[in-house]
Amino acid sequence: MIKVGILTLSDKGATGKREDKSGPTIERIVAEIDGVVEYYEVISDDKELIIEELKKQVDDLELNLILTTGGTGLAPRDFTPDATLEVIDKKVPGLAEAMRAESIKKTPHAMLSRAVCGIRNKSLIINLPGSPIAVEECLRVILPAIPHAVRLLEDQVEDCAR
Ligand code: MTE
Repeated sequence: MIKVGILTLSDKGATGKREDKSGPTIERIVAEIDGVVEYYEVISDDKELIIEELKKQVDDLELNLILTTGGTGLAPRDFTPDATLEVIDKKVPGLAEAMRAESIKKTPHAMLSRAVCGIRNKSLIINLPGSPIAVEECLRVILPAIPHAVRLLEDQVEDCAR
């Protein structure tokens, strides 16, 4: 079982002006790798709040996998990657690179994603874009690598070789 946290970043979602469809999309997809959502929150695009939420999910709740959605672009209120960079110990660039590389085949706008992936303690933090379609497209790309990543973080892998 993979303990999952979902953090939706949306000013409109946080004030009830927009229904969050990306969080439920993530929940449906992670179930395919035995991911169980233990924490889910919709908050505004506030950098300090995002930092606080990410730290809580790692340090207090000790979740294996934290998936954020939204706030990765260029708009003035897009702070998710910046907040993520402040909390991670190490980057995992291949995950973000793979998502962008595949997504560019679907829309050139994917080049505008500043998504960051990295680890804090034993938790993997992954930024996904905001729209439910983009979430599904990106998460499908990296999903096959996530269980192995979680096992590595738990120090449960003795031999990675194929
Ligand atoms: N990635 C995929 N796979 N599909 C998409 O439709 N849209 C993007 C993108 N990544 C998109 C995508 C767009 S329009 C933007 S502006 C950036 O990521 C940032 O999205 P965000 O601000 O919603 O996080």
